[in-house]
Amino acid sequence: MVNIAVLGYGTVGSGVVEVINTNGSIINRKAGEEINIKYVLDLRDFPGDPVEKILVHDFETILNDEDVKVVVEVMGGVEPAYTFVKKCLLAGKSVATSNKELVATHGVELLKIAADKSVNFFFEASAGGGIPIVRPLISSLTADKITEITGILNGTTNYILTKMANEGADYATVLKQAQELGYAERNPEADVEGGDACRKIAILTSLAYGKNLDYNRIHTEGITKITTEDFRYAKVMDAAIKLVGTTKEIEGTLYTFVAPMLIGKEHPLAGIDDVFNGVFVHGNVLDDAMFYGRGAGKLPTASAVVADVVDAVKNLGRNVLTIWDEEPLELGDFKDAENKFFVRVSDKVEDAAIEAEFGEVSYITAGIAGEKAFITKPVKESLYEDACGKFDIISGIRVDF
Ligand code: HSE
Repeated sequence: MVNIAVLGYGTVGSGVVEVINTNGSIINRKAGEEINIKYVLDLRDFPGDPVEKILVHDFETILNDEDVKVVVEVMGGVEPAYTFVKKCLLAGKSVATSNKELVATHGVELLKIAADKSVNFFFEASAGGGIPIVRPLISSLTADKITEITGILNGTTNYILTKMANEGADYATVLKQAQELGYAERNPEADVEGGDACRKIAILTSLAYGKNLDYNRIHTEGITKITTEDFRYAKVMDAAIKLVGTTKEIEGTLYTFVAPMLIGKEHPLAGIDDVFNGVFVHGNVLDDAMFYGRGAGKLPTASAVVADVVDAVKNLGRNVLTIWDEEPLELGDFKDAENKFFVRVSDKVEDAAIEAEFGEVSYITAGIAGEKAFITKPVKESLYEDACGKFDIISGIRVDF
């Protein structure tokens, strides 16, 4: 029997307990050992919940119990998660976490400690929720030079954008539904302003290239400026609007950003709706691969966390090599990246002025009074930024078709 402890009895923590209770016999068979939840740590009490019998309020109880071999960290946030996880690894316990903030901020250090201590630091659920994408990047896609990872990596915003596109739904109402369904972060600003997707693309990119991509270096835009009018144009263009995190190699240079994008309906990410996430990977010998599944929610996320526990139990006393060096990943300057833009401006702006700035453009009409809209050829981000200062731009969205 292998004893484990769960730090945090919130949405994901209670999901981890539920998954182990529901699928215990399958999980034990796959782990080759019986997995027993010895402790659940939470500051709160849960009167009437069977978890009460194993609930502890003091982290030291878990840390000092040598029988606990694997610790699940599902508290979220950097502190105290970082302190607790570091102490567990140093004490020779493996850790499985869903905490993208922790992994994006301290992944390099925690992986090194795990390797030094011959334990494991696993984080499948930290990007893509229930979708296996972290382990494939570490263990499966090892024969390729990866030239692109583009993902819909935030379930909450994908849920909101889908409802806005299909039902013309009001932004605030849909956000509330996503919160009620347990998809959103405690502070949903991290979802809607792109910070959550930013941390996830930083994790996936660091794993794909084996060097550290500090998420603070990633240009990040959220979905708060997207309006129903943008969706009217999207419909005319037969395109979807999706919040993507992307890292792409262009002429030997890697560029990365998080932003809403207009995606042509034929793109594999265009049909990914609701809380689902999708990650598109291109490798120089693999060609294209797609990973698809539920990106948020209690049980899908817990499924990935428990799978990490199984892997940790299968590898007790042995570190599974994960290449994620401290060395910063070399990136091109975002200002030099070239993108096509869909731009809406006041109809008072002359076509000649638009074309003097952007060169040749294609005009789009969606029957909206008082404005004109167009798609540019690929232009530098710096050019677009300058144009924003010159014109009264109503909205601008990057285009991938
Ligand atoms: N708030 C996150 C999302 C949860 O909506 O994707 C899963 O990381």
